Amino acid sequence: MMRLLVLSGLLLLCVDQAFLRTASFIKSPMSQMKLIEDSAELHCEVIGNPIPEVQWWFLEGEEPDETVSQLFDGARDEHVHINTTYVHHAASTLALFNLTLNDTGVYECRASNDPDRNDLRTTPKVKWIRSQANVIVFEKAQIVPTPAEVVNQTSATLSCNLTNPSSPIKGHYWTRNGKVIEESKMEIPSLYTEHTINKIDYHVSGKYTCVFMSEPEAKHDIEVMVPPHVSPYKQSENSNEKDKAALVCVNHGYPYIKDWEWYKLEESNGRRLIVSGVNGTGKYVVKNTDHNSTLTIDDLDINGDMGTYECLGKNDLGENSGKVNLRVRSRLAALWPFLGIVAEVIILVTIIFIYEKRRKPDEINDGVQMTTDKDEKSATSLKSTFFSAPAVSE
Ligand SMILES: *[C@@H]1O[C@H](CO)[C@@H](O)[C@H](O)[C@H]1NC(C)=O
Ligand SMILES: *[C@@H]1O[C@H](CO)[C@@H](O)[C@H](O)[C@H]1NC(C)=O
Ligand SMILES: *[C@@H]1O[C@H](CO)[C@@H](O)[C@H](O)[C@H]1NC(C)=O
Ligand SMILES: *[C@@H]1O[C@H](CO)[C@@H](O)[C@H](O)[C@H]1NC(C)=O
Ligand SMILES: *[C@@H]1O[C@H](CO)[C@@H](O)[C@H](O)[C@H]1NC(C)=O
Ligand SMILES: *[C@@H]1O[C@H](CO)[C@@H](O)[C@H](O)[C@H]1NC(C)=O
Ligand SMILES: *[C@@H]1O[C@H](CO)[C@@H](O)[C@H](O)[C@H]1NC(C)=O
Repeated sequence: MMRLLVLSGLLLLCVDQAFLRTASFIKSPMSQMKLIEDSAELHCEVIGNPIPEVQWWFLEGEEPDETVSQLFDGARDEHVHINTTYVHHAASTLALFNLTLNDTGVYECRASNDPDRNDLRTTPKVKWIRSQANVIVFEKAQIVPTPAEVVNQTSATLSCNLTNPSSPIKGHYWTRNGKVIEESKMEIPSLYTEHTINKIDYHVSGKYTCVFMSEPEAKHDIEVMVPPHVSPYKQSENSNEKDKAALVCVNHGYPYIKDWEWYKLEESNGRRLIVSGVNGTGKYVVKNTDHNSTLTIDDLDINGDMGTYECLGKNDLGENSGKVNLRVRSRLAALWPFLGIVAEVIILVTIIFIYEKRRKPDEINDGVQMTTDKDEKSATSLKSTFFSAPAVSE
């Protein structure tokens, strides 16, 4: 049905652009169930010619005590945001932030392209089309996690105890860093679930979440934390002088590392702290993500930049470091073998040329003359290759 509407809508949009058309929906808002402090988004799209105006209204309570109010961007202490664009058709998004129980109600998208739509005197004649969606906000489930977090332990049993389900529980499961742990899935209506980790190391550290299958889902996090485990993404990097090099270190454990430091190891067994350039510019730039840190070194210098770099990652439980070797090649290095061949050819050609010159003219037969011509030609073509080569390697 929806598809049909969209299709016919678009068709009409294309074919009947020149004709007046009353407003019609091509996307209607969808009902949703949410928890307190969640956010919700409702979408509404309308076509028509001229492009219809879109409004959002909130209907609260039951008739006859129903209250109807128009929503605007920034309403309810900035909890309501409306973004409407009028390009080819009208598209509007109503975003509700930090939901409370009293946000429960009916949200209505109204649209009209009637030229008299905002004229109060002719209201009854004006046609607004409407599309509604329910948003129902529930109390957050009370889940008691045990333990609250796991720090530096060798094994642990995580458990969750749900006390006020908002709807029947169909089952439960656990996730680690958002990924479902398949073997933890159980389709029993129990309000209690546990998950045992026999051996805790950086492989299994992470943010564990118990999820109770209800509408909406009830869940709680338990963090399993270990000291950092840092290793280089590649143990050695090669780059050419004047170019850039990127050295990467990865942290495999949880929690993620906020504090990364990079050092250059000095020959005197000391190390020099590398200071990242301001605003991501300069010779050294350090960029961190949740999982890794990248040191970019610009304008490489053979003597100054070649060597071993150390990345040090710290979290609350400890620190760990990795090493990356950087080799910097001379720009000419790649050219040497080629220059050698060219030199060889030139010398050879010169020798042949001199030799041929020294022969008496009557000794030259046609065949030899041709060979010499050929050689000279290939020598010139080689020379031109040689002279254009540096430009190619830039
Ligand atoms: C409004 O929506 C348009 C189109 O979806 C988007 O490009 C724009 O960034 C949005 N504006 C705001 C303030 O969210
Ligand atoms: C959400 O609203 C509650 C009270 O209504 C307030 O305590 C809380 O700080 C708000 N959270 C955000 C993220 O605005
Ligand atoms: C809705 O509830 C919040 C907090 O629960 C309150 O601050 C706000 O005034 C209420 N709004 C209305 C319209 O009742
Ligand atoms: C879950 O919590 C309830 C209420 O706090 C308590 O009575 C019950 O024994 C707990 N269940 C488990 C399995 O710990
Ligand atoms: C860095 O960016 C900030 C804000 O964007 C700016 O005020 C500052 O001048 C910049 N510093 C440099 C060295 O470019
Ligand atoms: C570094 O982390 C980012 C974000 O997590 C990821 O996209 C990127 O592929 C990682 N790089 C390496 C070399 O692992
Ligand atoms: C974590 O355990 C290691 C070794 O078992 C210990 O050296 C370290 O001090 C512990 N860290 C914390 C924060 O307990």
